[in-house]
Amino acid sequence: MPDKPHDDAPAQAAPLPLRPEVETLEESQIVEVWKLGFGRDDVIGLWVGEGDAPTPDFISEPAIAALRSGQTFYSMKRGLPEMRRALADYSAPLYGLRPDEARITLTQSGMNAMIVVLQAFLRPGDRVAIVSPIWPNIVSAVRLLGGEPVQLSLDHSPDGGFRLDMDKLEALLKTGVRALFMATPGNPTGWMLDEQGIAEVLSLTRKYGVWLMADEVYNRFTYERLSAPSFLAQADPEEPVIAVNSFSKAWAMTGWRLGWIVHPPVLGDVFDKIIEFNTSGPQAFLQHGAIAALEQGEPFVAEMVERCRRGRDLVYQGLADLPRVTLANPPGAFYSFFKVEGVDNSLAFAKRLVHEAGVGLAPGSAFGPGGEGHLRLCFASSEARLSEALERMRPLLS
Ligand SMILES: Cc1ncc(COP(=O)(O)O)c(C=O)c1O
Repeated sequence: MPDKPHDDAPAQAAPLPLRPEVETLEESQIVEVWKLGFGRDDVIGLWVGEGDAPTPDFISEPAIAALRSGQTFYSMKRGLPEMRRALADYSAPLYGLRPDEARITLTQSGMNAMIVVLQAFLRPGDRVAIVSPIWPNIVSAVRLLGGEPVQLSLDHSPDGGFRLDMDKLEALLKTGVRALFMATPGNPTGWMLDEQGIAEVLSLTRKYGVWLMADEVYNRFTYERLSAPSFLAQADPEEPVIAVNSFSKAWAMTGWRLGWIVHPPVLGDVFDKIIEFNTSGPQAFLQHGAIAALEQGEPFVAEMVERCRRGRDLVYQGLADLPRVTLANPPGAFYSFFKVEGVDNSLAFAKRLVHEAGVGLAPGSAFGPGGEGHLRLCFASSEARLSEALERMRPLLS
């Protein structure tokens, strides 16, 4: 899972040394807080990146039918042809172009897409520039594969939001990096690049010859426009630009573990090989549900985004009048990432919120440079849960 622990067992030493990259992997601080409230009905958990609604039936039923009909065998490593066709068709109106199916690879989640992409180009010791605050998994994934993450903090903008300083980005790329990773819209900030920003970043990655990994997992969660500007709309298909996406968020499918990559066509065979040694490809029967999500899911996505818009506004209204809190209404993703005056240890403060208010938030320090002093709240929840959480937190935030 992206944010949650796989199990709750206490850490024990391995019988023989592990790879150094594994020995030094840190547990996510989000998990550390999550464990405090795990299994407690009295805690409103808004710490992880998912809503509180299950996958809708119009997506689940075709998968169940395919499972029942015996689609239980090994399948194609990069996804069924009809799956990749559906992804190409789905992409066309969003990016203003229909990527060739040779450019599409289905993966076993967005997380799996990221590790598969890194496995394709990352050499031991390679530096990867990562725009932060950021979901910590990409940082750990780079470390796990022997690379060195170098984080570049977003600046605060006057409205309480975030902005990327292109001069700072250029200064970092100049020092020699193998790749640039950025999520737009971003988790946890909800910050998002506009078309002009995308063009500027592309001109820098071209100038310095670096791979660009664009995390577009939240591209449907935008509140001032229909969908987020995409690197895919501006990059040449042959360029070293790879966009990672996921079924998790827009269709309430976090537990399905399905994602996809849009990449230069020449990498299709490369991913085919790499996937063989990772998952050997996603389950065929699940793909029938995913196809239904793409082909019939637009009303559901619209509903989901509307629900998040209501959650976002409710949280904004609930927090904005607290004098210690600084926040902006984020243009994208489904998190409120707010700063609390006087909080210099957000991990300790998030634990206090669990114990004293019965509310679970993610500590800002989990998201790297620029995160300390903040808390992340996922507002992809019902208005009732959000209102109750705000009410409970008010005394500690006032
Ligand atoms: C920015 C970002 N990228 C990628 C992912 C991966 O999503 P999944 O592995 O569920 O497909 C997440 C999940 O929280 C995310 O927040």
